[in-house]
Amino acid sequence: MEIVLSGIRPTGNLHLGNYFGALRNFIKMQYEYKCYFFIADLHSLTTHPKPDDFHGSIKNILAEYLAAGLDPEVATLFIQSHIPEVSEMYVLLNMFAYKGELERTVSFKEKARKHPDNVNAGLLTYPVLMATDILIHRANKVPVGKDQEQHLEYSRIIARRFNNMYGTSIFPEPEAFNFGSDLIKIPGLDGNGKMGKSENNGIFLIDDEKTICKKVMKAVTDSGPTKPDSHMPEMIQNLFTLMQVVSAPDTVQYFRDKYNSCEIRYGDLKKQLAEDICKLTLPIRERIIEILKDDDYLRRVANLGAEKARESALKTLREAKKCIGFKEF
Ligand code: TYM
Repeated sequence: MEIVLSGIRPTGNLHLGNYFGALRNFIKMQYEYKCYFFIADLHSLTTHPKPDDFHGSIKNILAEYLAAGLDPEVATLFIQSHIPEVSEMYVLLNMFAYKGELERTVSFKEKARKHPDNVNAGLLTYPVLMATDILIHRANKVPVGKDQEQHLEYSRIIARRFNNMYGTSIFPEPEAFNFGSDLIKIPGLDGNGKMGKSENNGIFLIDDEKTICKKVMKAVTDSGPTKPDSHMPEMIQNLFTLMQVVSAPDTVQYFRDKYNSCEIRYGDLKKQLAEDICKLTLPIRERIIEILKDDDYLRRVANLGAEKARESALKTLREAKKCIGFKEF
């Protein structure tokens, strides 16, 4: 049976990029595959979260996973640091990763450029930890957004190297996955780039109606097309991209036609967009708030997930160590 695995870092709450790039796929996949979904708390340490905030962020994401529809009885839902085997495997796999290639990773270069005062070794070996997450459960399919494509390629490289070195096929080569189509990138509301936690351009699952409307109405636009069928600038395309994921196809077509005939009123488009986002996220928001009140339930979910994930991780770790030549005395 094919194995699916994916994770999200607990840095703040989940936004629409996380939802459409990853979480929505998790929910669909849980009934079709053997699934492992987790909270990548070790990954988030590269940016040194405040100790007082750390646990709360993890708890928020767990509640958001559940509120969005993940079933902990069906999928294995766990917190990365609860699986000590991950840290051990990470040490082993670091021996198959080379400094030059890690330095060339796009995400590393970007983070090092943005935060030159915090280019730590964890940041450099971030793709190795991610490969560890995937390979330790021998996952074949990894539902992620477009920004994670290179990391997936690197996981394949590490799997191949290990297999070749020891003449084994212990690790399958994982592929990035998005139900039926290309990996997606949800844009931010600021006219460029992608929606991100630290970019201050996101709509979060926990946002209330007023906040969502305010954010959408403030999204950057231009003065409108002056010629029929004119080229759409990126900031307008972004609004249509968002609309495509939250609205009905005929709604999108209606506004496209209005754009092409130069009759579009961005205020109307934004109002519709805000309404359709609210329709999707407000019921999730209500469930998040309810679930966060129930510490016992969250503890039970985390413990159940850790138990199931450790079993699978330990099995792979034992086999990998055997390949390397570790033996019992
Ligand atoms: P993270 O926490 O940055 O993002 C979590 C997931 O959300 C997707 N995503 C987006 N998709 C589309 N448009 C966007 N604007 C957008 N923003 C975020 C990401 O592609 C990702 O799928 N390294 C990972 C976490 C991780 C992981 C793993 C993922 C750790 N180990 C193993 C898969 C498998 C990360 O930082 O994602």
